[in-house]
Amino acid sequence: MSSTFYSSLTKKYVMSLAGLFLLSFLLVHLSINLLLLLDESRGLFNEAAHFMGTNPFIQTFQWVLFGGFAVHMLVGVILQIQNWMARPKRYNKKAVSEESYLSKFMIHTGIIIAVFLVIHLGDFFVLKITGQVPEFAGHHGTEDMGLLVIEKFKMGGYVLFYVIVLIFLGFHLDHAFQSAFQSLGLNNPKYMPFLKGLGRILAIVIGLGYILIPLVIYFK
Ligand code: HEM
Repeated sequence: MSSTFYSSLTKKYVMSLAGLFLLSFLLVHLSINLLLLLDESRGLFNEAAHFMGTNPFIQTFQWVLFGGFAVHMLVGVILQIQNWMARPKRYNKKAVSEESYLSKFMIHTGIIIAVFLVIHLGDFFVLKITGQVPEFAGHHGTEDMGLLVIEKFKMGGYVLFYVIVLIFLGFHLDHAFQSAFQSLGLNNPKYMPFLKGLGRILAIVIGLGYILIPLVIYFK
């Protein structure tokens, strides 16, 4: 087997591990965000956001998280380009038709999520660390990040943008989870149906969980 084969295998390993790590972040981030719906006073959410924003371990971990996003996206783009370049040589009609429909769109849904992430970080994370919270978010500034989220989700266009991107996030995760196990070589036929099912449940829970937040805030 060629060294190109091994190097793309290593890339798939790295990408899968980074992806599973990002999935765990998505679950933690979702749990904290859902506090906004559970406690209307925003106390619980703000306490959690304050803890995440001041705890030294989490502060350091945040850079590992950003590294995880960067590695996942970079390696994903490289693998996709390699795949496109290799396709005409070993085009195999049967193999292509057997690919899951969603797997063909991983790069597209991934790019949409990456663009969303830049806008999302600009809207919340950058405002938080620079302390430049807009006036409409009240005089408590970064101490009341919950109010900033609520004010943003009062805008229909903003809510629509979130809902559309989060649907794409759900599709991305649906294929990603089982694909990560395949890339790690943990694709024993005995467990694959279970992993595919678990991936779908996670994609639905995460996708719908995030979508619920802007929708509930907007329609309240
Ligand atoms: C309803 C959906 C979402 C809401 C309300 C939300 C809210 C927030 C808020 C308020 C922050 C600022 C940090 C803080 O106060 O703790 C933040 C940061 C962040 N968000 Fe989101 N978020 C949502 C969805 C997402 C999604 C889908 C992703 C990833 C694809 C994401 C990735 C991040 C990252 C990487 C940060 C910076 C790290 C951090 O501070 O935890 N968020 N988000």
